[in-house]
Amino acid sequence: MTATLPETELESHFERTIERDQRIEPRDWAPEGYRKTMVRQIAQHAHSEIIGMQPEGNWITRAPSLRRKAILLAKVQDEAGHGLYLYSAAETLGVDRADLTEKLISGRQKYSSIFNYPTLTFADVGVIGWLVDGAAICNQVPLCRSSYGPYARAMVRICKEESFHQRQGYELLMTMMRGTGQQREMVQEAVDRWWWPSLMMFGPPDADSPNTAQSMAWKVKRHTNDELRQRFVDMSVPQAEALGVTFPDPDLAWNADRGHYDFGAVDWAEFKNVLQGNGPCNAQRIARRRRAHDEGAWVREAAAAHAAKNQEATA
Ligand SMILES: [Fe+2]
Ligand SMILES: [Fe+2]
Repeated sequence: MTATLPETELESHFERTIERDQRIEPRDWAPEGYRKTMVRQIAQHAHSEIIGMQPEGNWITRAPSLRRKAILLAKVQDEAGHGLYLYSAAETLGVDRADLTEKLISGRQKYSSIFNYPTLTFADVGVIGWLVDGAAICNQVPLCRSSYGPYARAMVRICKEESFHQRQGYELLMTMMRGTGQQREMVQEAVDRWWWPSLMMFGPPDADSPNTAQSMAWKVKRHTNDELRQRFVDMSVPQAEALGVTFPDPDLAWNADRGHYDFGAVDWAEFKNVLQGNGPCNAQRIARRRRAHDEGAWVREAAAAHAAKNQEATA
């Protein structure tokens, strides 16, 4: 596809590519709105991976055994890798990673609101793996078929690693549930704190999600927020039963007519409040990210100098 074709022809090529379930690649023409949507989504996703290292990173030095420390290190390191693939995918759309980072630390771009909650006990590490990475998997598996090629391909590998994250979390909780009464209480208390924020990870209800229709038409998104949320609830209830914990929702009940679990109303006022920067850890998360970025300036400078030297040598 060359850029010399008239716009209408480029547009119909784009539409046909989407219609046939083929991928849009960086070289292809795409409407401005599509590019903007992809940049926003991929950048927000990349930021979430990077900020998401903080709540669990908080426990690396205090992991209760060498085995737990090794697992947690590997998991947090995976999240760094996810961030890097995603920044690279965003760069194929013509944006610059340094610029995206600047937008993150100046609050002009968002990351998932879930990472603004604190990790108070080691059980949180297990619950984050089980519920937060679990919700991420529900959101991300359909993105392996997203219409934007570089994003869809990054998602394939990310999803494989996310399923390890979920398993290590569930296995940790299983171990704690077989332990002392105090350990079981710790698990239940962590589940009580993370359940509702996990449901918020699917975004606002469909009726309140103005971008969903366009994103579905572009096949950037394959299911609505409410569909994915329901899928997550249906998946999680039997897992909670196997674990021996309950979710803090008196309205949670199997509905035989619908073939799904009914569940209570999410507190969307809380969601909006956290999104607006007023969650328990928003300020801390951004301050830490900014500090890490500042302290890493010499590494970026050294890498750039090294690359320039190499280029000079080959020239
Ligand atoms: Fe991740
Ligand atoms: Fe993960």
